[in-house]
Amino acid sequence: MNRTNPIGIFDSGIGGLTVVKELEQILPNENLVYFGDTARVPYGSKSNEAVIEYSKQDAKFLLNKNVKMIVVACNTASSVALNDLRKSFDIPIVGMIEPGVKAAINKTKNGKIGVIGTHATINNKAYSKELLKQNKKLKVFEKACPLFVPLAEEGMIDHPATKLIAEEYLSELKKKKVDTLILGCTHYPILSKVIQEVMGNDVVLIDSGKAASSIVENYLQGRGLRNESHQIGKREYYVSDLPQKFKTIANTFLGKPINDLRKIDLEDLF
Ligand code: DGL
Repeated sequence: MNRTNPIGIFDSGIGGLTVVKELEQILPNENLVYFGDTARVPYGSKSNEAVIEYSKQDAKFLLNKNVKMIVVACNTASSVALNDLRKSFDIPIVGMIEPGVKAAINKTKNGKIGVIGTHATINNKAYSKELLKQNKKLKVFEKACPLFVPLAEEGMIDHPATKLIAEEYLSELKKKKVDTLILGCTHYPILSKVIQEVMGNDVVLIDSGKAASSIVENYLQGRGLRNESHQIGKREYYVSDLPQKFKTIANTFLGKPINDLRKIDLEDLF
């Protein structure tokens, strides 16, 4: 494997750009290829079978771009499909769950950890299983917060409706006195301000994408695969559909405008 090959990142849509943002911070010189399956988003309300099938197609698309490793930026795909992906493809694959779990375990003091995510992520208990595998004594409380996805995409970041919904979703976790909360969905870092307000400043929020970026860095470093170029890496973005408002939403998620965006045909994935 060549160290100048790109890192491949995929997500169900554009939410994974929050993970690209973190990767860019920590590994600016790496070349990145991003695929967002915008034609088939959301994955969070789909069956496991569908998410596994789509994730394999997404990974195959990236492999054809000669990536040196794959980051599954989508928490839903990480929860449901990571094992299948690792069995199917002979390439390092980093998901969101293990990094998020490690970061949460490092931070918790009272051993009470909350996890929020899509229905699929929460129903599959990927985070709680991994947390309890690492430490049986932890108390884990999970809650699906599906409305956070459209709220983030609508840019309703400081909106009173978002605050109300956050209070409704998070009240149970607050009552359980979690001291650490895993943001187990690509979109939730966008809403971290309101989530922090509702949970209180004593609760540590864990951004799985940020945690995963450090794991990617360590992995590349450890295997001598880090791109040592002194230039900012190339970025290529691919999507399976170009929804209206794409550019505005992408801007919010990535923190800057997207260049080099290409739409592919969904058939190219099969
Ligand atoms: N990217 C998904 C996740 O992180 C959220 C959007 C979806 O449901 O596809 O779980």
